Amino acid sequence: MESITAVKGFKDILPQETGKWHYVEGVAREIFTAFGFREIRVPILEKTDLFRRSIGEGTDIVEKEMYTFSDRGDEYVTLRPEATASIVRSYLEHTMYAVDTIAKLFTIGPMFRRERPQKGRYRQFHQINVELIGLDDPRTDAEMIIMLIQFLERVQLSQLKLQINSLGCAACRPPFKKALTDYLKGKEEGLCDDCRRRVDTNPLRVFDCKVAGCAELIDGAPRLITFLCKVCEDHFMKVRDALDTFAIPYEINTKMVRGLDYYTKTTFEVITEHWGAQNAVVGGGRYDGLVKALGGPDVPGIGFAIGCERLISLSPLKDSDFLKHPDLFIAALGDEAQTLAYTMSNRLRIRGVQTEVDYAGKSLKSQMKRADKLRCRYTLILGEQEITANKAQLRDMHDATQQSVDLDSLEDTIIHIVKGK
Ligand code: HAM
Repeated sequence: MESITAVKGFKDILPQETGKWHYVEGVAREIFTAFGFREIRVPILEKTDLFRRSIGEGTDIVEKEMYTFSDRGDEYVTLRPEATASIVRSYLEHTMYAVDTIAKLFTIGPMFRRERPQKGRYRQFHQINVELIGLDDPRTDAEMIIMLIQFLERVQLSQLKLQINSLGCAACRPPFKKALTDYLKGKEEGLCDDCRRRVDTNPLRVFDCKVAGCAELIDGAPRLITFLCKVCEDHFMKVRDALDTFAIPYEINTKMVRGLDYYTKTTFEVITEHWGAQNAVVGGGRYDGLVKALGGPDVPGIGFAIGCERLISLSPLKDSDFLKHPDLFIAALGDEAQTLAYTMSNRLRIRGVQTEVDYAGKSLKSQMKRADKLRCRYTLILGEQEITANKAQLRDMHDATQQSVDLDSLEDTIIHIVKGK
């Protein structure tokens, strides 16, 4: 019978890889906590309208990439393609703003987008996502970036570039939108079908398009940054000053518009040339109108999300650095020794010593081979003779030395040796 494989674009994170994932997540938790953020866990499934209203109708995510289905009734639900919308929904649903308008939250988990899978792009992927709701001081924008850079350095990512841009606000967008539409009008021939459709509805999205013809046309298009109102220009300048204070290098990418509609003012990406076009490891920005657009008070927000698969594949950390090998292998020969090994191993495990036993009754040679294969630190050889003598040999697998241990005090002796207690 044909075996069943995983769904295309969905991948397993195997046991030899999870150590690295735990490490990266642990560093994120530690650093974000120091910056005052707390973990929130939001559902994987949300009402479809939440994403339509936040990410925006004209985006690739909403138009083409969401896993949406009817929940056996009239309600349409969607596997979350990102976490910002869910966090803002939760902030509103639990009236967090009534207790404190400032909410500093992070979440780690899977997201789902039905994109064309390739290296660094999956249909289920994971994000470490951070949101700061309730502050609009430009220094908070820089602080988010400082925290992010600190995290990337701690997980040893290098050769990355920080790019920033400003997407303005409700005041500077309309004149820009008009200038961009005017520029694109009459050039529709050179645009792909999607962009042609978006010229009137959401022309900003043309900046995002990867189709060669559209990218060429965009090169000559007006840039939002030259349309910024006084408030947005001032904000952007202060963000840059605050980054300079911390000597954080960045480039301004006036073409960066991000793939989601909710952004205002500062946006940023951390990019790599590792996968060619598929290059953002982190994306984020300010979303000052989102909370209000989702039915809440007029509260600003800013956040970012790190793509875990991309981060981990770029990181020089090795799976083997995080593999935990057993502390002890008990090679038991004969029924009586196996019975003792059974009690002993479970007592030791309960006390935190990672212990392996083989109950298959194999020869000493084959048990030693297994201990070697599992890269156990120590092996205890337990046979009839040892039980009679009430003593067994404990072998250090690193330097092949042996020492005799008393069976009566075996548990404490092993804990003393293995754990150094
Ligand atoms: P985003 O740019 O759509 O932003 O995604 C952030 C990161 O998620 C990307 O830079 C990338 O590393 C990773 N990513 C996205 N799609 C995939 C995929 N198909 N396969 C693998 N990795 C992927 C957001 O999601 C915003 N919610 C970020 C944000 C938070 N803005 C404000 N707050």
